[in-house]
Parts: sequence; structure tokens; C-alpha cells
Amino acid sequence: MKDTLIIFDTTLRDGEQSPGASMTQEEKLRIARQLERMRVDVIEAGFPAASPGDFEAVRTIAAAIRESTVCGLSRANENDIARAGEAVAPAAKKRIHTFIATSPIHMEKKLRMSPAQVIEQAVKAIGWAREYTDDVEFSAEDAGRSEIDFLARIFEAVIRAGAKTINVPDTVGYNIPGQYAATLRALIEKVPGADKVIWSVHCHNDLGLAVANSLAAVSAGARQVECTINGLGERAGNASLEEIVMAVRTRADVFPVRTRIDTTQIVPASRLVSQITGYPVQPNKAIVGANAFAHESGIHQDGVLKHRETYEIMRAEDVGWGANKLVLGKHSGRTAFRARLREIGIEIGSEEQLNAAFARFKELADKKHEIFDEDLHALMSDEAAAPEQEHFRLLSTRFHSETGERPQAEIVLSMGGKETRSHATGSGPVDAAFKAIEAITRSGGQLLLYSVNAITTGTDAQGEVTVRLARGERIVNGQGADTDIVVASVKAYLNALNKLHAGGEKLNPQL
Ligand code: KIV
Ligand code: ZN
Repeated sequence: MKDTLIIFDTTLRDGEQSPGASMTQEEKLRIARQLERMRVDVIEAGFPAASPGDFEAVRTIAAAIRESTVCGLSRANENDIARAGEAVAPAAKKRIHTFIATSPIHMEKKLRMSPAQVIEQAVKAIGWAREYTDDVEFSAEDAGRSEIDFLARIFEAVIRAGAKTINVPDTVGYNIPGQYAATLRALIEKVPGADKVIWSVHCHNDLGLAVANSLAAVSAGARQVECTINGLGERAGNASLEEIVMAVRTRADVFPVRTRIDTTQIVPASRLVSQITGYPVQPNKAIVGANAFAHESGIHQDGVLKHRETYEIMRAEDVGWGANKLVLGKHSGRTAFRARLREIGIEIGSEEQLNAAFARFKELADKKHEIFDEDLHALMSDEAAAPEQEHFRLLSTRFHSETGERPQAEIVLSMGGKETRSHATGSGPVDAAFKAIEAITRSGGQLLLYSVNAITTGTDAQGEVTVRLARGERIVNGQGADTDIVVASVKAYLNALNKLHAGGEKLNPQL
């Protein structure tokens, strides 16, 4: 009988700490629904004390999700814990995850607290959290650079105070697999009460070892892995959920655990997260990259055709490849449209919203005959990003490019409700369009990234554009989709400008 490996997904919290990856409440809810469909055990929905927006997002997810546990992160202080407790209150299964740093450098330079004070604060935090739920997780931030004897002392104290899950994060991605596994093994052996709790790991990928470290820890006794879709997360990211789940499943001969994940939902989850955050998935990414199951060399192709297992250790359909099936077309009606949205986790509130979304769907179906789930997600992201109250709104565009001539763009925008137009030339139509927008808006945003992806296959596919803009300390990602990639680019640029305009500063838990 194998143990269950608890899959704790932190795409909505640690993943959202990737530069520019902030998501709207509606987008977070859509991802949470997909995580629930994938049968993730715990969804870390956010850090409620970070901002009122984060609080609302966690609360909305807590009210909507029934199968997975919904978790809120909090620092080890009474106010953060109360915010987390109130935010997860509506959940069917709720958890508070509280943390404090335990490495000498963090205690001395960041917290300016003595080790004894840190233990005292951690114990108090567990007590405050238990007023809201019995399911309390404790993390020793920067455990990867903490002294093992100190970790053992603080873990013993928080277990006695009632923590049910003990997380040993490699916050800065400093550990290597053998050493990290030895730390876990020693703690599990040494800490009184270790057998009463679940040992958890949370690894960052600064040295490219997040998945390797997590799996080494599982072999050493960890029974919860914290991870994210596509390995999204602070700096170089976190351990990738899809790699952990498929490693444990494919090498069931090595790992004494099994997960509850419905692996066929992995590729749809990866696409959804990439589409919403604007972080493309590299083609050679394990499991979810476009080439992960593509065989280029003749010898490999021949082998796979003769006997699939010659070169394939997993089946593409087991992780959800091929799920890109035709869903709707030009003749589909409103009922089918709404039903399909529901199936992919998108709930439309009012009749008015349904009418607006359906009108846009019909426009798209006129341009593109086959509408896939990915198109629906892009359409709904656009829909959510284009309410009447947005400061910058596209009214119309015109482009001209001809061999031997400098491309030109004309843009008509509504800016704060006032119609303005401008014209510019550029090295290409996208460059000209961005210059025309800047001539009107004078945002001063610095373009850090511009990327175009085809959402589905075929030349009538929608192009999905991501634009990353920086201004001062803030970095935002804007997305836009359209069958015309210049229009998609303009939408993405305006989406980024609207995010810069909206402000919405929030606290990072690790600062
Ligand atoms: O990396 C880290 O230490 C964290 C904790 C808050 C768990 O994200
Ligand atoms: Zn982290």
C-alpha cells in the first residue's frame, strides 16, 4: 500500500510573485477551478494580507472550491493570520499557512530577532491560526540555509503548539538533492512528534534543482510537495507540478507514494496558466512543452511507429495532449456556448455579460471556423480585461505596410472616456502601432518583453501576444488575442497600460 503524496499547488501565490504575473480575481478563480478539476489536494490561493484584492481573491476561491483544501498564506503575526483566517472562512476545507524565517542571515538582517524570539513568535502564530482552523501549516523560511539543530527546536515547538504540516523550504534554491534529502531524513528522525505531522517541501529553482530536490525529499520521507504549474514562481521559479506528478507516476518502481492527480488535466492547466500570466512555455519543457512528445529523428520516429515504448516513457494522452478538440463553431448557440464555458470552469454572472461574451464569440467564429477551449479562455480573458471602465480602450486601428515603404499605424483610443487619435511610422506595423499609442498616452513604460504565440494550429489561429512593461518599481504583463496579430499586439499593450494605470501595490510576503 503506497502513501499519498499531497500535492500543494502555489501557482496562485508563489507563482503570482513572478515579475508581472499578477492575475485578476476572475483569472485566479478560473485557475483554481482547473486545479480542483485536476484534483490538487491543497490550493494556496494567495496571501490575504498583501492587499484588499488578494484578500477578496482568496475569499472568492474559498467560497467556490469544494473538493480541494483552500489555503491562505500569512506571516507569523496576528494581523496577517486574522486576514488569512477570514479569507479562507467560506471554504469547505481550509488551511492557514504561516511562516517565519529561521536562517541566521534572515533572523539577524531581516527580522532583527534572536532565535529564541523567533521560536516564541512561531508558537504564538500557531495558536492564533488554530482559532480559525485545525489545519495549520508552519514553514521555516530559508530552512535550506538554517542550522539543523535550530530547525529541530522550532519544529518541535510548533508541533507541540498544534501545527499539522511542517514545511522545510529551500527558499533561495541553494540545496542539492543528497544534502536536502539528508536534512529531511535527519529532521524526521530527530524531532519529537515528527510522526504526527506531514513533512512538506517547497523548493525554488535557482540552480535548476527544484524538482530533483523535491523528489529526493520524497524518498527521504516528505509527503507533501509544494509546486506550481509550469514551475512558475519567484525568480527562477518553483518545482513544477507536472514534473513531480509524472516522475512519481512514471517511476512508481522507485517512489513509495502515489498522487491523486488526474494527469489528463495537466496540459489544459499548463495552457491556461501560460495564457493568463503571459509566461510562454518553452517548447522543450518536460511534459507540457510543445516538443515534449515530438520525435524528430528518423530513427526515433521509426522506433515509435514500430513500438511506442522504444522512445516514449509516458503517453501524451495521459497528460492531456490531444485534448485540443473542436468544441464550438459558427452555428453553435448561446446554450452550447454557456455550457462549454461552464465545463472549462468559466461561470458567467449576468445575462448581460453572457450576451456581450456571446457577441464576441460570434465575431470570432466568423473569422475562425473552429473554436477550441484555448480560444474560449483567450476570449474570456479579453472580455474580463475590457470592461467599459478601463482607462485606455481601443476604438479602431488601421495599418499599412507595403514592400519598400515604411509601415504606418493609426490608432483611435478612448482615454479616460475621451476619444483621441494618433498616427506613427515604425520598423514594422507593431512598432508603428506601439509608437502611435505612446504618442497619445505618454506612459513612459519601458518595453521589457514582446512575444507572440499561436493559440491553436492553422493560419486562422488567434495570435496571443504578451507585452511586459516596466515603470519605476512596477512590472506588468498585458495580454491580447486576435486573429490579426497587430490587433492582438495593440490589445496587449493597452492591457499592460491599464494595469500600470490601475496601480494596486501589494506586499510581497518575503520582503
Ligand atoms: O520560498 C519560501 O520560503 C516561501 C514560503 C513562504 C513558504 O514561499
Ligand atoms: Zn517560495
